[in-house]
Amino acid sequence: MRVFAVGATGVLGRHLVPELVRRGHEVVVMSPGARLDRLPPGVGRVRADLLDPGITDRLTEALTGVDVVVNAATAIPRDFTAPGAWDRNTNLRVEGTARLMRAVVAADVPAVVQMSVTMAYADGGDHWLTETAPFDQDPARASIVAPVAAMEQAVRDIGGDQVAWTILRGARFVGAGTTQDTIRERIRAGTAHPHPNDGYVSLVHTADFATATAAAVERGLRGAVLNIADEPLLVADYLRGLADHEGARAPGTSTEAVREISHRVSSEAAHEQLAWRPEHGIWPRHSELRCP
Ligand SMILES: NC(=O)c1ccc[n+]([C@@H]2O[C@H](COP(=O)([O-])OP(=O)(O)OC[C@H]3O[C@@H](n4cnc5c(N)ncnc54)[C@H](OP(=O)(O)O)[C@@H]3O)[C@@H](O)[C@H]2O)c1
Repeated sequence: MRVFAVGATGVLGRHLVPELVRRGHEVVVMSPGARLDRLPPGVGRVRADLLDPGITDRLTEALTGVDVVVNAATAIPRDFTAPGAWDRNTNLRVEGTARLMRAVVAADVPAVVQMSVTMAYADGGDHWLTETAPFDQDPARASIVAPVAAMEQAVRDIGGDQVAWTILRGARFVGAGTTQDTIRERIRAGTAHPHPNDGYVSLVHTADFATATAAAVERGLRGAVLNIADEPLLVADYLRGLADHEGARAPGTSTEAVREISHRVSSEAAHEQLAWRPEHGIWPRHSELRCP
């Protein structure tokens, strides 16, 4: 298949591009930055920006003959709390996705796989969150959740008759280059603690998310929304497990820790519809463990 992967130069792309190539697909990657130059040989490159207002026409041309578009573009800010920090990512999710979907329709691309996130779900406590679970209505999280909903809507709006689309809602990524690195540093420094009222956390290794994406590319499901997560675990167990891996002291609970929103995400639908199972797991492997 000819796969056009937008935003596949990042943390996910590092696994996704080789996985698609390994499976025999012809891959073209689009992104705006310098990381495009670091892709493996044989992978096509298109330097372009989804925030460019004129991108739809250019993309329509680039998408001619493409079998599947994968959209993994994102611009998560480094400092979440800086003023306007989320603006770029919001534009990318809302405007960027709409522009890309217009080009998909104009170029008659038969299928789309769109990345989304399980972090938009409301706190589910101990309950399992399937794909029908509601998104968070808390106004404090609207700036994060509303663009995710709009992004997914832009994909649904293309309709399942003309374009076979799949939305993959990924759990929080772990692996090299993810926030797991930061948590491991905090574990070593003794500054990461679970809140006593913490519930569940759902995680997925980027290598496992890549295999789920490749499976979705190949299956071409019509109008599917699928959670992609490893087995959820209690936040306290996650932090203790990481401490064990780091050879650090097991962290005790602290009321000063920020309480995590509880997400016990079910990926049963993906197990069935994609025949996907995580294989890497959530724990750092030796190659990912930092040397002392
Ligand atoms: N991180 C998580 O925990 C998590 C969890 C679940 C799902 N996801 C989803 O998985 C996908 C991939 O995430 P990631 O962690 O691999 O992200 P990442 O490492 O930050 O990479 C982001 C990608 O988006 C590209 N991009 C940024 N601005 C763009 C623009 N204006 N136009 C086109 N492309 C642009 C980047 O290109 P440059 O190389 O030029 O910067 C890069 O290729 C995203 O859709 C994300 O929402 C992430």
